[in-house]
Amino acid sequence: MSTRSLEVVAHRGASAERAEHTRGAYELALEQGADGLECDVRVTLDGHLVCVHDRRIDRTSDGRGVVSRRTAESMAALDFTGWFRSSAGLAPPTGPEGVLRLEELLGLVRDHGRAVRLFIETKHPVRYRGLVERELARLLRRYGLAAPPVRDESAVLMMSFSAAAVRRFRAEAPGVPTVLLFEQARGALRRGVLPPWADLAGPGIRVVRRDPGLVPRIAAHGRDTYCWTVDDPRDVALCRDAGVRFVATDAPATTRSHLSGS
Ligand code: G3P
Ligand code: CA
Repeated sequence: MSTRSLEVVAHRGASAERAEHTRGAYELALEQGADGLECDVRVTLDGHLVCVHDRRIDRTSDGRGVVSRRTAESMAALDFTGWFRSSAGLAPPTGPEGVLRLEELLGLVRDHGRAVRLFIETKHPVRYRGLVERELARLLRRYGLAAPPVRDESAVLMMSFSAAAVRRFRAEAPGVPTVLLFEQARGALRRGVLPPWADLAGPGIRVVRRDPGLVPRIAAHGRDTYCWTVDDPRDVALCRDAGVRFVATDAPATTRSHLSGS
């Protein structure tokens, strides 16, 4: 697996240029040739999975409140784009957009002309004990994505910082590859050994900066690495040289140009 070239994953969409987790951010990432898309999912009061990073919607919308205490419909009427101003002024502002449901993102990926991977990170793993992972597995079954014929070529991967969430999801959808996210490598992980229920290692870039040798140690145990969030050209080169398989970046076009220019 690790001899393959590095794939560029758009973190929350092309989130340096468009408001994160909006359809516009994901469409731009696809236009820019991203190999994959990353999204965070949370559950709404009425049981839908929506693409929102924070517990509350205050930072990224013109509404207020906790995602899990609002219905999906009420958040569809809000605007999740107006708060965002591209610091580099790279893309023109887009029109208002309501909350993006995971189902819409699955449809976008399914209907796109070329194969694209979707990295889905589940949030709030403790409070809802399994509800999010069960609903995610149900949706993936409905979209025919829960049983990829070749595991390594799966269009969808599930990720979490929570070992419990990854294990729960593995029990719900054993065919879908999982990524264990972490900000510090401890114990067996430090030696490059992943638990059996995690297919890929998901270190933050600071872990790789401190210990680039971790990536080949993980590869020596037959696993690939997904690294986040990799925007600096030195980090892109570091990941490529270490043998990282996927980098998540807020600026997929720029990261791609760093790779082809180096
Ligand atoms: O891709 C993993 C990364 O997104 C984890 O951090 O806070 O951006 O969800 P966060
Ligand atoms: Ca995330």
